Amino acid sequence: MQPDLRTFITDSPERAAAICREGFPVAFPTETVYGLGARLSDEAAIARIYAAKGRPPSNPLIAHVLDVEKVSCLAHDVPPFAHTLFGAFSPGPITLVLRRRPDVPPHAFAGLSTIGIRIPSHPAARQFIEEVGETVVAPSANRSGRPSPTRWQDVLEDLEGRCACILRGDPSEMGLESTVIDCTGRAPLVLRPGSITLEMLRDVVPSAASTSAADLLVRSPGTRFRHYAPRAEVVLIDRPPAIPPPESAFIGLTAPAHAEAWTLVLSCENVAEYARSLFGFLREADARGAEHIYCERVDKTGLGVAIMDRLERAAAG
Ligand code: TXA
Ligand code: MG
Repeated sequence: MQPDLRTFITDSPERAAAICREGFPVAFPTETVYGLGARLSDEAAIARIYAAKGRPPSNPLIAHVLDVEKVSCLAHDVPPFAHTLFGAFSPGPITLVLRRRPDVPPHAFAGLSTIGIRIPSHPAARQFIEEVGETVVAPSANRSGRPSPTRWQDVLEDLEGRCACILRGDPSEMGLESTVIDCTGRAPLVLRPGSITLEMLRDVVPSAASTSAADLLVRSPGTRFRHYAPRAEVVLIDRPPAIPPPESAFIGLTAPAHAEAWTLVLSCENVAEYARSLFGFLREADARGAEHIYCERVDKTGLGVAIMDRLERAAAG
């Protein structure tokens, strides 16, 4: 993609799909975060996605399809527990890594023999995929290393002139990327925590497990790279400091004293709001010129696991 190409913004899934069919990456809303999509078979468009994002070539894309019937066209030896997981949580914010069929075009999968498959529930995403008429491969629509986009304006901020089209939608309902689960072994292994929590997975497949950090580096290419980093320094804290530090923003579950002295404050009602707001908040704090972003830790249970995963990566910058 030429960096000086104008980015066309549309509310029409049909127009967005037409541009995608012409071979240009198109950003589209989903219930998790915005994605940047191309057709599974379109090698040139997939190369444009990697170029637009500055994405390492070793990091594979997720295949987005409309229904579970499509899974057998893309994957083989799908274990019964994977069908159970699709049945319980799809369409929705879950991606299953399966063995890729050898006849599937390989360009989006970074040389792996596997494929991550997701069935999104967002109506505009589904209409877009339907109109494209083919499996849509897509990573999150941010520059590599930046927080994932939860609003169409975030996509524009990162990819203006680098993607041909943005299908405009509402802010993302979940705000964190899908739960990614390796289903190529004996039991489901969570590679990336998300809104579908380990507790929820275990309710339907009791053997579901989370991965150790060392195991993750081997199994999940995406975890090897710097992530979710705003320009400001991210500082994890257990409670807000009594006196707001200068040029600092705060996000968490409690209400800090002297809220007016912070550059930006968000006290979330619950972990769902924290998850939904986090990436947008990191971007907003940057836009307001904050030098430091204080993020309150949450318990590592339920959705808190996914929030802490993103916070720890953002702070690791
Ligand atoms: O919610 C989401 O998953 C969003 C929306 C757009 O669907 N997509 C997204 O894509 O977050 P991306 O590329 O930013 O993150 C995909 C993650 C990466 O960590 C990648 O390494 C992992 O999924 N992944 C994809 N295919 C994989 C595979 N075959 N094996 C292991 N990990 C895989
Ligand atoms: Mg991403």
